[in-house]
Amino acid sequence: MILLDNIHQTYRGPKGPVHALRGVSLHIRAGEVFGVIGRSGAGKSSLVRTINLLNRPSQGTVTVAGRSLTTLNAAGLRAARRDIGMIFQHFNLLTSRTVFDNVALPLELAGLSRQQIQARVNPLLELVGLGHLADRYPAQISGGQKQRVGIARALASQPKVLLSDEATSALDPETTRSILALLQQINRELGLTIVLITHQMQVIKQVAHRLAVMEAGEIVEQGEALKVFSDPQNETTRSLLDDVVPRELPANVLERVRTLLGAPGQPPASLLRLVFAGSESDQPLLSDLVRRFGLDLNIVHGQIDEVQGHPFGTLAVLARGAQEQLTAAVSHLRGAGVQVQEVAHA
Ligand SMILES: Nc1ncnc2c1ncn2[C@@H]1O[C@H](COP(=O)(O)OP(=O)(O)OP(=O)(O)O)[C@@H](O)[C@H]1O
Ligand SMILES: [Mg+2]
Repeated sequence: MILLDNIHQTYRGPKGPVHALRGVSLHIRAGEVFGVIGRSGAGKSSLVRTINLLNRPSQGTVTVAGRSLTTLNAAGLRAARRDIGMIFQHFNLLTSRTVFDNVALPLELAGLSRQQIQARVNPLLELVGLGHLADRYPAQISGGQKQRVGIARALASQPKVLLSDEATSALDPETTRSILALLQQINRELGLTIVLITHQMQVIKQVAHRLAVMEAGEIVEQGEALKVFSDPQNETTRSLLDDVVPRELPANVLERVRTLLGAPGQPPASLLRLVFAGSESDQPLLSDLVRRFGLDLNIVHGQIDEVQGHPFGTLAVLARGAQEQLTAAVSHLRGAGVQVQEVAHA
């Protein structure tokens, strides 16, 4: 659906040229939610803006829905851009227009009649849950509602692709979740391909099927979300993942565990760090450890949620029991696809 081939972007900066994209190639498939993540300045906005040629790359080709944008003339490009909607961090609404008229704007510019516009805009306002706020002005609605207007406006020209540049970065976590849920719904129900730029792994975790990680103008890692989450190859990816699955146990937890491990006259114990990523559900596995291996379990820290419908997260478990049972239990967990690290032993 979207093919970027060897994209370079050089800006003229005050201190000389800024090489913001250094040979990025990417294939985004029709109907997927594709996440692009990276730290500030990595080149994410530069990249997403090449997809609709808001930025014309210094080198490389952009193909969207079979059309090679980089070779089109101005009229061809205007037509091609109708296939590509975009939403922004600061919503970019016109303050002097009502919610309805903001969504209607691209249709007015395209020359649709008032009747055609109403037939298009009203269902979109319903879709984004703003039917009752059509006559309000941007100053009279919340941030989350403004972004819903932005989404409806982006969908007005019935695009095939929706680009989102940090669309939830100005919103609180709960509003972020609801906007991401709306994007997911649009992806499913309208079959829209969505490219989502963010610096937050939480955002990627909630909605992206696949992702690319950017650093200093290059893609350093890409793949299926679950695969990248469970087995990150690149240091940047690992550090970004730290927001979702901390690699280190908090110091106070380690302290508490040392006290537990140090208790005299107890059977052997191991502090295990379990990483669940696409493995079978966590609960039966833990009860297995108790039932089949007779271990005593104490969950000291952890967080499990979902990536693409699979359990994902970490648990730190203090397991106590006979040494051979501890060893057997670790093999059992590994056999079930859980990554197991022995953090401490006594
Ligand atoms: N118009 C411009 N002129 C000069 N330099 C620019 C321009 N736009 C971006 N840059 C530079 O290009 C690099 C990449 O910027 P870009 O905005 O693509 O990063 P980003 O990943 O979107 O960052 P953020 O997360 O902060 O939005 C940065 O070093 C930035 O300073
Ligand atoms: Mg940016």
